[in-house]
Amino acid sequence: MRALRILPGLFAASLLAAGCQQGSEATAETATPAEEPKPLVLVAGATGKTGSLVVAELQRQGYPVRAFVRDTAKAAERLGPEVEAAAGDLKDADSIAAALGGVGAVINAAGASGGGGEDNTPEKVDYEGARNLADAAYAAGVDQYVLVSSRGVTMDDHFLNRMFNNVLIWKRKGEEAVAASGIDYTIVRPGGLGDGEGGQQTIVFEQGDARSEGIFINRADVGRVCVAALKHDAARNKVFEIHAVEGEPQADFGANFEALAGS
Ligand SMILES: NC(=O)c1ccc[n+]([C@@H]2O[C@H](COP(=O)([O-])OP(=O)(O)OC[C@H]3O[C@@H](n4cnc5c(N)ncnc54)[C@H](OP(=O)(O)O)[C@@H]3O)[C@@H](O)[C@H]2O)c1
Repeated sequence: MRALRILPGLFAASLLAAGCQQGSEATAETATPAEEPKPLVLVAGATGKTGSLVVAELQRQGYPVRAFVRDTAKAAERLGPEVEAAAGDLKDADSIAAALGGVGAVINAAGASGGGGEDNTPEKVDYEGARNLADAAYAAGVDQYVLVSSRGVTMDDHFLNRMFNNVLIWKRKGEEAVAASGIDYTIVRPGGLGDGEGGQQTIVFEQGDARSEGIFINRADVGRVCVAALKHDAARNKVFEIHAVEGEPQADFGANFEALAGS
């Protein structure tokens, strides 16, 4: 972790010192530690189905958000005019660098599936775009990068590669580029995405990419996991698959992150 964080002990000590100076009766026991300030989060793919839910979850949890979008009018329509939007394209490194001022973390939920011209291929977006964002974010001192990848990225003969321009192969190369960039990363590999409500099912965390078909998760739950990764150091430098099963929804994913092996 590269960002300066407020240490609870230091915070309590300064409160105590302030209380002494002012003759207050405040003590370290009675002082409530302040919540750490939340970083500004840049969301790539924010106009997409998953990205817009990532933005909504960030807002719900009080994170300042900047949407990195190709079309600001579409962003205003999808996300609401109150969400700050930076115009850019993951294929254009300069536009990424220009969007990173003050940003503490990035979440990349972009994918070439949304169309956008002949040059907007999985190679250009899911690989090079993910890499461009990682390199620019690392250079700008951004503290963490959460990437929405996919189950099946290690299966070169997966049918999705035949159907969609080797999309899973390019997504794996994107993962590798993010991990090699030097930034702290969290790589989230969801199963097939659905549009149902989040927070209604148990989210299962796995590693090893052993299976990819017949396993689903709602995009809203992917958003919840991505945002949770920002506040748990145990989510850093880990790669994992997620899917949903019937059962009690987790209130928090900290224990799931703790149980994962690091990369
Ligand atoms: N569908 C599945 O079942 C499934 C399963 C596992 C993983 N995934 C992955 O999960 C992620 C989210 O999927 P989704 O279906 O929610 O996505 P989506 O609705 O198709 O949204 C894709 C987003 O990527 C943006 N984008 C595309 N090219 C871009 C570029 N060159 N620069 C910047 N932004 C660009 C799009 O912007 P515009 O609005 O401007 O087009 C859109 O906001 C994707 O990475 C996908 O591959 C999908």
